[in-house]
Amino acid sequence: MSRLLVEGGTVVTSSGAAAADILVEGERIAALLTPGTVPVDPGTTRIDARGKLVVPGGIDVHTHMEMPFGGTHSADTFSTGSRAAAHGGTTTIVDFAIQPRGGSARQGLETWMARAEGSCAIDFGFHLILSDVTEEVLKEVYGLVQDGVTSYKLFMAYPGVFYSDDGQILRAMQTAAEAGAMVMMHAENGIAIDVLVEQALAAGRGEAKMHGETRPSVLEGEATHRAIVLAGVAGCPLYIVHLSAMEALAEVSAARDEGRLVFAETCPQYLFLDESLMAGPGQEGAKYVCSPPIRAGAHREALWRGLRTDDLSVVATDHCPFCMKDQKELGRDDFSKIPNGLPGVEHRMDLLYQGVVGNRISLARWVELTSTAPSRLFGLHPAKGSLLPGADADIVLYDPSRQHTLSAADHHMAVDYSAYEGMEVTGGVDTVISRGQVVIERGVFTGREGHGRFVRREPFSCTGTPGQPMGGGEMADRSTEGAR
Ligand code: URP
Ligand code: ZN
Ligand code: ZN
Repeated sequence: MSRLLVEGGTVVTSSGAAAADILVEGERIAALLTPGTVPVDPGTTRIDARGKLVVPGGIDVHTHMEMPFGGTHSADTFSTGSRAAAHGGTTTIVDFAIQPRGGSARQGLETWMARAEGSCAIDFGFHLILSDVTEEVLKEVYGLVQDGVTSYKLFMAYPGVFYSDDGQILRAMQTAAEAGAMVMMHAENGIAIDVLVEQALAAGRGEAKMHGETRPSVLEGEATHRAIVLAGVAGCPLYIVHLSAMEALAEVSAARDEGRLVFAETCPQYLFLDESLMAGPGQEGAKYVCSPPIRAGAHREALWRGLRTDDLSVVATDHCPFCMKDQKELGRDDFSKIPNGLPGVEHRMDLLYQGVVGNRISLARWVELTSTAPSRLFGLHPAKGSLLPGADADIVLYDPSRQHTLSAADHHMAVDYSAYEGMEVTGGVDTVISRGQVVIERGVFTGREGHGRFVRREPFSCTGTPGQPMGGGEMADRSTEGAR
């Protein structure tokens, strides 16, 4: 069995930091050791972590590789996207398999599984997108949960594409409560948005900026409120994806203050990018078109506050890249035809680390938001998101003093622009270990396509005990460690 010793670093977990060495045997962590206390046998590979932070591998629970959208596909394959993720310190992604309209959820899962298996350079799991909630599909959910696909996303946006009405949502939530699944919600009032879009286009306003103006933050707040009410009726746990608006955050905070099992993620684009970017010259604005849209500074301040108070529990990317050439330009004169989504899987750890540099969050909170909390919420803990003996040896050596500039010129995502072009960041990934294999060594990819394995996730548990269902349903106490 191979042995690695990561020595001399500062180990940081969601509970704090300490000097420690990490011994890896095969694919797992064998021990955390007081530095320099173990005689190292000659067969052990020694990895020098002096001056580095040693953290659990990042877990990005919101990616879309090869996702069909608006007549095209997101530009990263599982091969290119997972490699880029590894460069950025992410060792597990959870992507979305889409139930085809009129088809089965299992069929969607098989399609996405075939794309990822043999391609992914890091471990991967799947949520489902239920795009057509029927009785048959809801029957399938129980088997899918058994098979480790323990969460599904519903859309209150995109009528005619992914949209579910309130009745479908309630039924899907009731099934989730019974099956032990987490419901993930794209919370924007799509019916109202479509009216605003139609009116803007009729008035000759087709420019990218109108994408933001036709998706006002109050319509995200309203949908978030409705989703929380419906989840309460059904008694299921609810996770709001890509939360961008202060009105939506207020709804989540209020629900959590009542002890509800309501969680939310935000994404780097909502923490760093301003809505004015969508008004850029020529086609520039299309680069920043995603849904919900990027917003004004007051929303960003609220989101940073939410990250500190745990009203926002996770930072994921919603990585859904489309090239400017041939893809974003599909909406040249009509913003509603711009494929929605931004690249980001490579930069999540670095971008959120700027919150540590700027004293907005602690080091431990950085680890919690990018790794430990997503692992707990999505049934991956303790194998992922921790550095406990027995956990998968997914380890990142992070250099807190590295300075670099984000740019499409040297990023690894298969997309022809960067949403963060020219942004100077402090801190950078040095070395990445995925299940005991070094996949990034001093910034160079040393992994291989197909190294990544499908991870079966446990059903949602508010106690953190694998396999233990929610029990007390909506009445359960959200303050228990496992639910965080
Ligand atoms: O604009 C976005 N967010 N594109 C990806 C699809 C989704 O709604 O997550
Ligand atoms: Zn969405
Ligand atoms: Zn998404």
